[in-house]
Amino acid sequence: WSIYAPYVKAINQLKKERNAVILAHNYMTPDIFHGVADFVGDSLQLAVKATEVDADVIVQCGVHFMAETSKILSPDKTVLMPDMDAGCSLAESITAEGVAQMRAKYPGAPVVSYVNTTAEVKAASDICCTSANAVQIVDAMDSDTVIMTPDKYLAQNVANLSKKKIVYWPGSCVVHELYTADELRAYREHEPDAKIIAHPECTPAVVAEADFTGSTSGIVNWIKRNGASKAMLVTECSMASNIADELPGVEFAKPCNICPYMKKITLENILYVLHTMSNQVEVDTEIARDARKSVTRMIDLSR
Ligand code: 13P
Ligand code: SF4
Repeated sequence: WSIYAPYVKAINQLKKERNAVILAHNYMTPDIFHGVADFVGDSLQLAVKATEVDADVIVQCGVHFMAETSKILSPDKTVLMPDMDAGCSLAESITAEGVAQMRAKYPGAPVVSYVNTTAEVKAASDICCTSANAVQIVDAMDSDTVIMTPDKYLAQNVANLSKKKIVYWPGSCVVHELYTADELRAYREHEPDAKIIAHPECTPAVVAEADFTGSTSGIVNWIKRNGASKAMLVTECSMASNIADELPGVEFAKPCNICPYMKKITLENILYVLHTMSNQVEVDTEIARDARKSVTRMIDLSR
């Protein structure tokens, strides 16, 4: 921790001077998660928080679509992105043109887009969803057929829990698609008392092997509530690192998979953007207006 201390001190000082808050996703490294974040959570919690925080500046410690979501919901705030290249394989897999293609193929079906999408895709959709509310949102649609974009595995996992016919865009998460059901079965055979907890961006075969499937915060809450002597968090590596101190009795399975995009965010570039007020996220006014409808409709339905 001593190597991080000067950065942590400088960032926390600058936050006060700028009236800034740091919203950090659960996949941030522990130095960010425990050292400088004002609020940590999953995508849904971060989106809701962006509507509530009383600050002039939001520093989004996560990936670009999360910063766009904050800007869409808080257009009057300055939203800073520590690294503009922190993307997401799901957000990059579809454009507004892709949404139009799906609408043409399935006329009349509503489009539910995962928040892991650009502002343009959100604007072209009827509503958003996150991993925390996807089934609830899909079930609330007034149509037997629902289009989900862009995560094919989230769509297949939702289809297994919903009565709706779900058609989907073939995107995937480069982190979660790497896990295999064989790997989980081998772990369980070796560690019969262990709990396996998966994110719904994993394949349905992986989800079928898990004791619980949920959003990143759902995963953390489940393991805190249910405990375990050993656990495999079938998601990004920082999740286990961030809760390890609170749960010293739990041994977390290794190796895990790293999100190369989330890992672009560092104490150094957080300090840099707060100091220079650079990397301000902007969203076109009309796109922001339409995207806001999709995101707020989701938030209202999730309450
Ligand atoms: P959560 O909404 O569950 O935090 O997921 C975001 C994400 O990008 C997972 O890969
Ligand atoms: Fe995107 Fe996957 Fe990284 Fe989440 S873990 S930000 S879905 S690439």
